[in-house]
Amino acid sequence: MTGRLMDEVVLVTGAARGIGRAVAEKAAAEGAAVGLIDVLADQLAATTSALAETGARVAAAVGDITDEASVAAAVSQLASELGPATVLVNNAGKNAYADATRMTVAEWDAVFDVDLKGAWLMARQVLPAMIERKHGAIVNIASIHASLTTAGMFPYAAAKSGLVGMTRSLALDVGPHNIRVNAVSPGYIATDLLEEFFTTFPHERDHAHTVHPLGRIGTPENVAEVVCFLASPAAAFVTGANWSVDGGLGIRYA
Ligand code: NAI
Repeated sequence: MTGRLMDEVVLVTGAARGIGRAVAEKAAAEGAAVGLIDVLADQLAATTSALAETGARVAAAVGDITDEASVAAAVSQLASELGPATVLVNNAGKNAYADATRMTVAEWDAVFDVDLKGAWLMARQVLPAMIERKHGAIVNIASIHASLTTAGMFPYAAAKSGLVGMTRSLALDVGPHNIRVNAVSPGYIATDLLEEFFTTFPHERDHAHTVHPLGRIGTPENVAEVVCFLASPAAAFVTGANWSVDGGLGIRYA
């Protein structure tokens, strides 16, 4: 197999479904060995089997990115099966729909644990091997909410903005080791998470399709293409960037 990610070992969090699954499929198609991490054991097993059937080199670990021990165990299991990670895609995330005046501290922590701290825990686990080899790339899946947001989704925008900030800090700190760190900010992408959003805000379903300059919402594969580009040598001089994959929604004023 030949492709832009030949010889890379790509770890993807939240890979059981949605954008994470599409990233794993695209990375495998580009020649990478792929390590899948998710909390959803059954869906992870189904995605892993489907990928293996395509001839991909794939391994999976049930793991929770918010838990230090779980992250350490998952990364080390996948390293023993595939070799040390050379690419990390921090994709696992969740929406938030809290009221700032009533939200509990535990609820706040649960959002930031998945949408921000988990990405750092994963990066902390994989970076030493990348630094040792002077080779690596990290792609953090942020959101259009890192720059624009919508009422009723507190504190999702804060967590995703934090992830873009962390992308900049890491890019500066690990750049001298030849490791690139970028963010990708999707807009509306057709996944289970978007269905959850439309169920929470039913009036947004029709509106979402009409506001995009490109006239449609995106697919997980649209995001995966950009993620795999940023992870590949084709993006050798791109680091610290936050790439929009939003069909032009983020440039629209009215
Ligand atoms: P999804 O909900 O379909 O998939 C997310 C996956 O992450 C699930 O398989 C879930 O089990 C996993 N996950 C959640 N918490 C985890 C944890 N603690 N440890 C390990 N795995 C965990 O969501 P989707 O739409 O594929 O989103 C992927 C990323 O893209 C998220 O970070 C999301 O915030 C971001 N995003 C999605 C957009 C959309 O419209 N779908 C728009 C902007 C950003």
